[in-house]
Amino acid sequence: MTDKTRVLIFDTTLRDGEQSPGATMTHEEKLEIAQMLDEMGVDIIEAGFPIASEGDFRAVSEIAKQAQNATICGLARANYKDIDRCWEAVKHARSPRIHTFIGTSPLHRAIPNLDMDQMAERIHDTVTHARNLCDNVQWSPMDATRTEHDYLCRVVEIAIKAGATTINIPDTVGYTAPRESADLIRMLIEKVPGADEIIFATHCHNDLGMATANALAAVEGGARQIECTINGLGERAGNTALEEVVMAIKVRGDIMPFHTSVDTTKIMNISRRVATVSGFPVQFNKAIVGKNAFAHESGIHQDGMLKNAETFEIMRPTDIGLSETSLVMGKHSGRAALRAKLKELGFELAENQLNDAFVRFKDLADRKKEVYDDDLIALVRQNDAAEDRLKLKHLKVVCGTDGPQTADMVIEIDGQDRTIHATGDGPVDASFNAVKQAFPHKARLQLYQVHAVTEGTDAQATVSVRLEEDGRIATGQSADTDTVVASVKAYVNALNRLLVRREKSAPGDDVKSVNYKDAG
Ligand code: KIV
Ligand code: ZN
Repeated sequence: MTDKTRVLIFDTTLRDGEQSPGATMTHEEKLEIAQMLDEMGVDIIEAGFPIASEGDFRAVSEIAKQAQNATICGLARANYKDIDRCWEAVKHARSPRIHTFIGTSPLHRAIPNLDMDQMAERIHDTVTHARNLCDNVQWSPMDATRTEHDYLCRVVEIAIKAGATTINIPDTVGYTAPRESADLIRMLIEKVPGADEIIFATHCHNDLGMATANALAAVEGGARQIECTINGLGERAGNTALEEVVMAIKVRGDIMPFHTSVDTTKIMNISRRVATVSGFPVQFNKAIVGKNAFAHESGIHQDGMLKNAETFEIMRPTDIGLSETSLVMGKHSGRAALRAKLKELGFELAENQLNDAFVRFKDLADRKKEVYDDDLIALVRQNDAAEDRLKLKHLKVVCGTDGPQTADMVIEIDGQDRTIHATGDGPVDASFNAVKQAFPHKARLQLYQVHAVTEGTDAQATVSVRLEEDGRIATGQSADTDTVVASVKAYVNALNRLLVRREKSAPGDDVKSVNYKDAG
């Protein structure tokens, strides 16, 4: 790379992000997110871990085939079988990359029971093998920030000599701090022969809340690739958030003279989509993409904003794809207005999807005085599909201070209506019990979350439900002005997705059952 100010953006939402417990996405969702990443100008997409499951392999292969711009990368442990499988998946891409790794810190070396020399040999052999398959090879010493510096220099040199074109320095446990992060990259560039021939990458976890700062510091130290995820999704406290590093570089070009190729106006849309499909909502005060990130409520702030937006805003909402005005829609708004509004929010719907959304919009507008942007987003995101095996048709709950609460439900199962009466500890519990009676299953409820989309007692509730069965996880979501109805629809949505997974995979197939720490 000749442009020394260019920072490559490596997105690992579909690998490190999807690997975080409960964030599992369906095949179609992975393809959709990959396409959005490709269109927004991300340089490298880590599409999955092909050896982990048939599902991962299929997703990486298809993403490789569909990508128009980005390099498509797959993850592989330090063994030939993983690397071969990875190559089989990424080889379809216009620009494929194999990413292979091994844990190099004392704690990680102990797991495969390799001494320093044996590990060095393994690195040489596996990187050479990967490079014989693919011209573009990334190598990572996992837990690099807790690896002895001498040994880190030694193994990085071996990987470069064996043909690695990118060396990624992971802060696997989120342990480092900004100055140390910069110094580590600087030290490697200074000491390792051949370091100026390759690109150094930084991969930070957020356990101490420093992932963004550490990644930017690494760039100051000489790294030219940042590994990150949308919304900071990822194992434990997550990874560096793509939107944070990209916007920090854009806004503070005065002190960070770098640039990326990301079209920042696409940030908000992909953030919302990732939140929906992963079932991990974005915290309200999250930098850049949180609901409140551009909200000004105090009188002083509002006054200042009206006089000059720069008084309290360092970037414009439009920079990340938020519309400047929040045009309120109501029951008199027509189809054309809905289409225009949805387009402004980043949704280009096909005619049949628009018709469907319009019916739901009219229904909502009848129940709710004003329909805000967030209501429309929730409405479009309702993901009932024609092929769903279970469909809620009718629900009546009785609740109050003198229990038990009851639910009377009509639910269609494989085309047949079933009428159920159930009781429970509250209306939601009674309704979920009704679904279980109608369609017995052993899936466990892992998460039940309710959010008010807007203010007011007529606000829609969006509900997320996560179910787990035999290691397969599925998330369902729904929105309605009636919280219990939204809850049951979200539960049924999750169940439908679980059934699809049950049909497509053997037990455990979807699970990240491969041990990441296992180098062998
Ligand atoms: O955090 C980490 O070390 C990783 C590696 C697999 C690169 O995700
Ligand atoms: Zn990681």
